[in-house]
Amino acid sequence: KAGMFTFDPGFVATASTESKITYIDGTAGVLLHRGYTIQDLASKSDYLEVCFLLYYGYLPNAQQKAEFTNTIKHHTMVHESLTSFFDGFHHNAHPMAMLCGAVGALSAFYHDVMDIRDERDREIAAHRLVAKMPTLAAMCYKHSLGQPFMYPRNDLNYASNFLYMMFGTPCEQYEPNPAVARAMDRIFTLHADHEQNASTSTVRLAGSSGANPFACISAGIATLWGPAHGGANEAVLEMLNEIGDESRIDEFVARAKDPNDPFRLMGFGHRVYRNMDPRAAVLKESCDEVLKELGVEDEPLLRIARRLEEIALSDEYFVSRKLFPNVDFYSGIILKAIGIPTSMFTVIFALARTVGWISHWHEMISSPHKIGRPRQLYTGEDQRDFQPVEKR
Ligand code: SDX
Repeated sequence: KAGMFTFDPGFVATASTESKITYIDGTAGVLLHRGYTIQDLASKSDYLEVCFLLYYGYLPNAQQKAEFTNTIKHHTMVHESLTSFFDGFHHNAHPMAMLCGAVGALSAFYHDVMDIRDERDREIAAHRLVAKMPTLAAMCYKHSLGQPFMYPRNDLNYASNFLYMMFGTPCEQYEPNPAVARAMDRIFTLHADHEQNASTSTVRLAGSSGANPFACISAGIATLWGPAHGGANEAVLEMLNEIGDESRIDEFVARAKDPNDPFRLMGFGHRVYRNMDPRAAVLKESCDEVLKELGVEDEPLLRIARRLEEIALSDEYFVSRKLFPNVDFYSGIILKAIGIPTSMFTVIFALARTVGWISHWHEMISSPHKIGRPRQLYTGEDQRDFQPVEKR
């Protein structure tokens, strides 16, 4: 209770951290990565180039981009004994549970060959994580199907390689649709980083203790899994399936507005944005392109999604609270159109966000820092005398 212990507001100030990586203006709906707008990066760059930008702080020239791409390509395979690690997972384990375990297990392969104080060791860890996440993500999916793992292909670009490892089988030739690969790459870019959100703050807090980066990223994955955070894209599709028909939309909207009903419209609202999430605006555009390209624009669930969007952008309850559709609303729709199962949606978010997490980890570790130690406002009992059990 305030007054019993001195509550030092200074602790709250140090708990928030400085960073040069991402800038968000929630009121104006601005998102910059190292000074570049998300709109420019989503339309003129690609995910690996954004990975380079987030980690090193500048856009690569042609030679740097070629070298970085080549490095990532040559780290996409995982240690063969990690494939048997998956044998221990129940066949219907949630892919996020498997990903969290598999990434944490990377610590068992590399923790003794890296010194987090060494710049080059940190860079190698970052390369390994960016390179291996698509492979591990696809392995989670293949394990859930009982299908063999597909080895990465160095002749494919980053997004196409991921789609190949997801949907390819040894029995037949699989070449990813270029338009789908471009949409996948754009989804990766739009989810790459987002300042000090819950999962990134977890990675920074874990990293501040000196834990190895693989364990820190595993902690970030666990945090992202929650439906209020990265689990929202999966929750969007579960919500659309539960609504089931356009005739039931009003019933769910009424529930979302009812202060006594815990139901919230998944994919709407944001902790920071009080304007349209700029990522959602970009994805909304991609949505139309991908749905048309795949010929699924009349898919029933997508019609329900469109109607929900219209309501949220016009209904006083949502407008007054500035509950716009967020990045998860549209990413869920596109991923479904691509044929990604809902259980893999947050895995894809984690894959894309890994570069943001490891860039924040690197930024913190490479500058003077103390272990994170958020303080609390104590609201428990005053000090009291201990009573022996016979007197209680
Ligand atoms: C991500 O931090 C990040 O950057 C996260 C992220 C990233 O890239 O890392 O952007 C990714 O997590 C996006 C958000 C995904 N989550 C969802 O879509 C889940 C549904 N959204 C809600 O759970 C909610 O909007 C949050 C969690 C996102 C924000 O919650 P807040 O901060 O508590 O919302 P708020 O305080 O601004 O709410 C104000 C009002 C409240 O009602 P009143 O008390 O004023 O009557 O709006 C209501 C809330 O009840 N409200 C909603 C709502 N979200 C907020 N009502 C109905 N449906 C919703 N979705």
